[in-house]
Amino acid sequence: QSTTEIDVTAIEPGQAIKTSFRKQPLFVRNLTPAEIAAADAVPVSSLRDPQTLAQRTREGHGNWLITLGVCTHLGCVPLGAGEGENRGPFGGYFCPCHGSAYDTAGRIRQGPAPKNLEVPNYEFTSPTVVVVG
Ligand code: FES
Repeated sequence: QSTTEIDVTAIEPGQAIKTSFRKQPLFVRNLTPAEIAAADAVPVSSLRDPQTLAQRTREGHGNWLITLGVCTHLGCVPLGAGEGENRGPFGGYFCPCHGSAYDTAGRIRQGPAPKNLEVPNYEFTSPTVVVVG
């Protein structure tokens, strides 16, 4: 299977981009300290798919949230990265198909989706280069 290399240099804090990985949408987001704090403030036991932000990021790169841009309900592309500024009531991503709302860790918080946005395998090969896959 192929890998995808992404240079994240130009992604500012608070910004998310949509790119692709193995023909699927991929979201790469540079979280602000406030967005990280918001994610860390949520009791994990209250979540439908319980995961901490730290479990969904890489050590030393905790501001980079990298997920598939595929709603875990029926596969629509949520808004909130690149085009579509509607990040929904939890500030992460919002799926317009049936109203699933994800938080700043990409975790499902409201609506019909059963799981958090999937985090693919990836690693940072430098402070600004990510290899996904
Ligand atoms: Fe996203 Fe249904 S596909 S809410």
